[in-house]
Amino acid sequence: MTVTSRDAPPARGGAGAMWWRDAVIYQIYIRSFADSDGDGIGDLEGIRSRLPYLRDLRVDAIWITPFYPSPMADGGYDVADYRDVHPLFGSLDEFDALLRDAHAAGIRVIVDLVPNHTSDRHAWFTEALAAPRGSAARDRYIFRDGRGDMGVEPPNDWGSTFGGPAWTRTADGQWYLHLFAPGQPDLNWVNTEVREEFESILRFWFDRGVDGFRIDVAHGLIKDPALPDLGEEKEAILEPTRRVDHPHWDRDEIHDVYRAWRKVSDSYDGDRVFVGEAWVASPERLVRYLRPGELHTAFNFDFLKAEWGCQTMRDVIQRCLDAVGSVGAPATWVLSNHDVVRHVTRYGGGEVGSRRARATALLMLALPGSAYVYQGDELGLWEVEDLPEDVLADPVWERSGHTDRGRDGCRVPLPWSGDTPTFGFGPDGSLPWLPPPAQWRGLSVEAQHGDPASALELYRSALRIRREHPALGAGALRWLSAPDDVLMFERDPGFACAVNFADRPAHIRPPGTLLLSSSPLPEGLLPVASAAWFATGRSRSAPEAASIPS
Ligand code: BGC
Repeated sequence: MTVTSRDAPPARGGAGAMWWRDAVIYQIYIRSFADSDGDGIGDLEGIRSRLPYLRDLRVDAIWITPFYPSPMADGGYDVADYRDVHPLFGSLDEFDALLRDAHAAGIRVIVDLVPNHTSDRHAWFTEALAAPRGSAARDRYIFRDGRGDMGVEPPNDWGSTFGGPAWTRTADGQWYLHLFAPGQPDLNWVNTEVREEFESILRFWFDRGVDGFRIDVAHGLIKDPALPDLGEEKEAILEPTRRVDHPHWDRDEIHDVYRAWRKVSDSYDGDRVFVGEAWVASPERLVRYLRPGELHTAFNFDFLKAEWGCQTMRDVIQRCLDAVGSVGAPATWVLSNHDVVRHVTRYGGGEVGSRRARATALLMLALPGSAYVYQGDELGLWEVEDLPEDVLADPVWERSGHTDRGRDGCRVPLPWSGDTPTFGFGPDGSLPWLPPPAQWRGLSVEAQHGDPASALELYRSALRIRREHPALGAGALRWLSAPDDVLMFERDPGFACAVNFADRPAHIRPPGTLLLSSSPLPEGLLPVASAAWFATGRSRSAPEAASIPS
């Protein structure tokens, strides 16, 4: 069934409002969210069955990672057919049913678009391999002759972000470029057919009723046609490029692509949105993607990468707000995703990491702009660092010669309930594709439900207040003076947030009545690694106080 935009949920700020400027968007890594059929792998029906959970959490939208047909060389980020669903995940009919039910629950749906590369099993690549050098079929990708005697050396020194060279040699001796795994050949974005195909793919999903796209590797599409050597400068996948004239990251010509895509999204009703995944040198480079007529939003990874610390966080937040303000775009905050170590672990792990993660969640959700919650953030999940080697599926593990375990530790299936090894991820008796640690029994949705001290109830309270409080939208932020290592700011009307980064409790004069705190708050004190929200008395309509853990 095709869903039209009439089924879309009402925008938070009223009909036609730009909902994405202050939305809370929940990232679903589909393989690991909920498994409806017991094969150990999450699927579309699993997501549909959990819509009540997402509605009650009060997220405004979900972003679903790729569910398209794929040989899974990179967990689905190697797409073999952009207009269908992998049987592991369901069918197009099941996608339509999910979209319809999500909209009925007031939840918008963003899908993942992977334009930098296809799978090596995509029909275009099969055709390219069978076609002669210099053919139109090869021109959709980046094929080159090698260097050295008989062309046995790769055309240049570029490395794959997953380790090893970025070139693979084909049977007839030519090489093709893949900035990621060999199963992910890079497309040639100066080829008109490639551009037309992706505009048509956008229309395919917009016509079905999706509310937007997350754009994978949005900064990588265009390469310097001379394909010059990089020299010594090799960069890892999640390091921002330091150069602005980099031969394959963040090239100026890329913006033409997004100007064309924006015309496509603007031709649809219902306020469709793009969010770009662009790892670039600075917020100033990032907001070039957000200029009028380009993408609506882009992840601010500087916030994700910032270490726990008062001045660091304040600087990162202010610089981001200044930068997005210069182009009239909203900020987009994120703490974790399927590519990075979960923030409980990044912030020190254990009790310390959990406290800091709770505090940072309140900080993020109080900032102007939109916020992304990665599945399991709301349960306080940590990185699983001791997965058995024989279950590791991330190509990074093989490509690094077993020196880097890759990203599977943040992709472990969610614990929903019970104490069987599946923790309710799938039907009893099924085994999740990665084994959740036994301690996650105490972190399941069921175990945390109703416990006022739990991460889940903290997120539920925060998202409820965020939805109701008039200050918690896209508006401005004003820093307040505060003791050393305490970050305090005000938002109009009538809201303040304080975060203590010090390693001892901070004496603060509460700027108002307590709404919510990440740990119990003794009178006049903000405990170590804690955050609190206050109603300052100037609200037009302050919500009731949430229950505070005691
Ligand atoms: C995705 C990764 C993926 C890579 C290649 C990234 O940006 O988030 O999971 O491995 O793109 O598609």
